[in-house]
Amino acid sequence: MANKPKIAVFASGNGSNFQAIADAAQIGALNAEVVLAVSDRPQAYVVERAKEMGVETLVFTASQYGSKAMYEEMLKGKLLGLGVEWIVLAGYMRLIGPVLLSAFENRIVNIHPSALPDFPGKDAIGQTLSAGAETAGVTVHFVDAGMDTGKIIAQECFPVNGRSRDEVEAEIHAIEHRLYPATLQQLFSR
Ligand code: GRF
Repeated sequence: MANKPKIAVFASGNGSNFQAIADAAQIGALNAEVVLAVSDRPQAYVVERAKEMGVETLVFTASQYGSKAMYEEMLKGKLLGLGVEWIVLAGYMRLIGPVLLSAFENRIVNIHPSALPDFPGKDAIGQTLSAGAETAGVTVHFVDAGMDTGKIIAQECFPVNGRSRDEVEAEIHAIEHRLYPATLQQLFSR
């Protein structure tokens, strides 16, 4: 099999997308090696998941650094030291700054729970439902300096059909857990 790209997954919360990616890599459905899980929240469940999977973790507290550039320099050093080629954002609640954007140009991807360009930013599911949108969706996109503005790689939509927030959220997660590993696999084999 061809070289496995080394990836780092950044997450701030539950980490179900981290899990889907790490599982896909483990069974060979995703030809990649998850070498690092990065979290800006020490208590995030993703940290437990990573330990369980035997994936190295890097947990940092942004407020202990003087600036975004300073903690991103720290992250960059770690990532380059491990030979990471791609950064995969999965529920990472911080904007990526110039330090990482230039070190990983066109090699940072994100998943967002709406049909971008509609409903970027926080609580995209809440935004979708309060706008009364007929469809909800999931988008995988490249990361640029904006908030969920980078080039779209893959997108899947489904009708809301008067469903509750919990139901819409469950559908979104089900799509994400399938779409993210599959899209990464396509991207890495280009
Ligand atoms: C996902 O819905 C993702 O689209 C968004 O944040 C959520 C993370 O969920 N960016 P999880 O932590 O992977 O369970």
